[in-house]
Amino acid sequence: MTAILVDTLTKRFGDFTAVDGISFEIPEGEIFGLLGPNGAGKTTAISMLSTLLEPTSGRALLNGIDIIKDQDGVRKEIGIVFQDQSLDEELTAWENMDFHGRLYRIPKAIREEQIDEMLRLVELEDRKDSLVKTYSGGMRRRLEIARGLLHEPSILFLDEPTLGLDPQTRNHLWEYIQSLNRRKGITIILTTHYMDEADRLCDRVAIIDRGRIVAMDTPGNLKSQVGEDVVSITSPDAARIADRIRAPWILGAEQYDGQVIIRLRSAEDHLLELLSLIGGDGHTIASISIRKPTLEDVFLHYTGREMRHEEAGATDRMRMMMPRRS
Ligand SMILES: Nc1ncnc2c1ncn2[C@@H]1O[C@H](COP(=O)(O)OP(=O)(O)O)[C@@H](O)[C@H]1O
Ligand SMILES: [Mg+2]
Repeated sequence: MTAILVDTLTKRFGDFTAVDGISFEIPEGEIFGLLGPNGAGKTTAISMLSTLLEPTSGRALLNGIDIIKDQDGVRKEIGIVFQDQSLDEELTAWENMDFHGRLYRIPKAIREEQIDEMLRLVELEDRKDSLVKTYSGGMRRRLEIARGLLHEPSILFLDEPTLGLDPQTRNHLWEYIQSLNRRKGITIILTTHYMDEADRLCDRVAIIDRGRIVAMDTPGNLKSQVGEDVVSITSPDAARIADRIRAPWILGAEQYDGQVIIRLRSAEDHLLELLSLIGGDGHTIASISIRKPTLEDVFLHYTGREMRHEEAGATDRMRMMMPRRS
């Protein structure tokens, strides 16, 4: 069954279009990721889906319920974990959960049972009576997820679930999210600007840039579409190499920061040929590495910009050469 159906959903703020006609369909039980740089429109998109923000146009159904016509109905189906922390620091974990349960008017007996179950699920039962201000960042996130699940939603929204957490805590949280999805069959839609998070966690990923979905597929398919291998070459002649390198087995070449990133079919079969092409043009190579494509390469391919640089606001340092069709 379809959990989420989104049809040309659009949000404008004045004459600025933050979300520009996005469409997708998420089957029940999927972990679906919206991956894109800061300002891409991720939070705006899920704010519309969770009825916090009214769309300018387009429509969306959650478990068949219309986000515009039946907001209360939609709210019963969903749990939300916001990008910014929204716990009360001066209350204990249990009290935070209880407050939320009362908001949703969950009857006392069920509420208390559910709170204990959810706190067990995120392994916070031992600390349930501690004030949230004594919690680490990872514990807070887990508590927020437990809280989002308290009224037993079938769809969970996670906005940048591991933002600002250290690598170990992020890993841990990914495991929780995955086990939640597996054990409870909850459909999860999450936003992230972390490539590794989308890759590791999501069944399917929509890459969103400037309010538009530029590509959507499984992480594996997205990566294999841009090439089988990626060869990075550091060279003082990076720009000229990227401009001039041509071969039927080269799918595309981009350059930035003194590096040429060449996407190709089988590095194993073509590496020597590649090196002789570059050497034949009289260019020097300082270093070379071969790797499998990442979602970063996918983003670069579809947008012409690098997401990491986008974050730092340094797009002007980059140039892109479109792949030649051969
Ligand atoms: N209430 C608002 N009024 C005007 N512009 C907004 C508002 N909310 C978001 N935006 C703009 O819309 C764009 C997308 O924002 P957002 O959805 O928060 O992006 P993301 O979550 O991908 O970082 C940004 O350029 C942001 O400045
Ligand atoms: Mg956001």
